[in-house]
Amino acid sequence: MPQLFHIKTFGCQMNKHDSDSISQILMNEGYQQSKSIDDADIVLVNTCAVRVKAEEKALSVLGRLAPLKQKKRNLIAGVIGCVAQEQGTDLLKRFPHLDLILGPRNIHHIDKFIAQIKKKRERISSLDLSGQITSFPKYNGYLKGRVTCFLKIMEGCDNFCSYCIVPFVRGRETSLSAQKLIDEANRLVRQGIKEITLIGQNVNSYNVRNGSVPTFPRLLKELDSISGLKRIRFTTSHPKDLSDELIGLFGELTTLCPHIHLPVQSGSDAILGFMNRGYTRDTYLSLIERLRKVRPDIAITTDLIVGFPGEREQDFQDSLRLIEDVKFDNIFSFKYSERSGTRAVHLPGKIGDTEKQRRLFLLQQRQKEITLGKNNSLEGTIQEVLVEGPGKRGNHQLSGRTAGNKVVNFFSPTDLRGELLRLNIIQGCQNSLLGEIVGAGDQKTS
Ligand code: 5AD
Ligand code: SF4
Repeated sequence: MPQLFHIKTFGCQMNKHDSDSISQILMNEGYQQSKSIDDADIVLVNTCAVRVKAEEKALSVLGRLAPLKQKKRNLIAGVIGCVAQEQGTDLLKRFPHLDLILGPRNIHHIDKFIAQIKKKRERISSLDLSGQITSFPKYNGYLKGRVTCFLKIMEGCDNFCSYCIVPFVRGRETSLSAQKLIDEANRLVRQGIKEITLIGQNVNSYNVRNGSVPTFPRLLKELDSISGLKRIRFTTSHPKDLSDELIGLFGELTTLCPHIHLPVQSGSDAILGFMNRGYTRDTYLSLIERLRKVRPDIAITTDLIVGFPGEREQDFQDSLRLIEDVKFDNIFSFKYSERSGTRAVHLPGKIGDTEKQRRLFLLQQRQKEITLGKNNSLEGTIQEVLVEGPGKRGNHQLSGRTAGNKVVNFFSPTDLRGELLRLNIIQGCQNSLLGEIVGAGDQKTS
């Protein structure tokens, strides 16, 4: 009987990608994925530390592993990701049933650690942040049936925004070699992948820290020429590093999807200063203007934090005004959450939770209307959609995304997964669009 593993993943795309990598490493060693945590011989929790709530959720899952381990004495229980890095070996003391603590930069040796635990029944922690990041394992069957995937091009962050724990848990910016990435992208395309999302904490800084080439725009150009790769996306971009060269590529590269996630965090210059973001409201707005000049239909999404220390009503109004001015396609908005070790902990003017909640509600309520308006405005347009798989409703419903990253559901009697189709948008809803097939899309043929 093959041994089974189960990974519970919290947090961002980077964590999802890390969990995919770990799954493939374990499958290469003969383990198989189990649907339920109860059947697994190895349970891993991949954690997020960016806000207190996410961390608490992960810790509560760790607590719930204790009875599981009591029932199954040989169960291997591990915690990986950002909370593992942040709390380190304290977790071994707090949770005596844990066997393994792995920081995000140490996941690629997971097979060896598991073998060691099995052999010696010793508890292991590996938290080195200084090492190079290793690239993906060779994907071998894991991506079967998938049309889209992530490709990590860099990891870590040197920006030290005053609220953010990421630089402490993901370490300094480190880039993967361009040749390896190009080879990997080619391999992914040969396995049926049609769309690759390049991920990193700040992709615009690709190769900048090590003074190497190519830089990010050049890397995009190289990937654009890969035969069979239909779409490229990337995330996340820091506004202070978004160059004209990169903006220009939205009007140039046929595979580069017209969507950018450009976190603004606040619409107030005073707050942006306290956050150490390195740009002003006006410079951000001028980036939006340039992006729309090059690519008028570009979809723009952002992240916003409300209730940052010192945020006065007028600062919050500046954020509200910003979403009004820009008309983002969507926003991800959060109440400021204090993370120990970050500089914002020492800032005066902390805002109470009720007030943060009020501001969050107002921001989200207005954005909902803007998003719905944007989705409504697509009704009657023809959108090119990459079909990713069955929709949520089953019964011949398929689902895909537009180039602008909006989910479209539509009906088809045949499974068209992996096809680029032209769809007429019948209805724009709050979170997705409803479409009908018009024909095949403009296939990239090079
Ligand atoms: N509190 C609230 N939101 C945060 N983010 C990062 N750190 C914090 C924090 N301490 C948000 C930012 C970032 C997104 C990934 O999470 O908006 O862009
Ligand atoms: Fe955190 Fe700022 Fe780095 Fe983004 S750029 S990961 S918000 S420190």
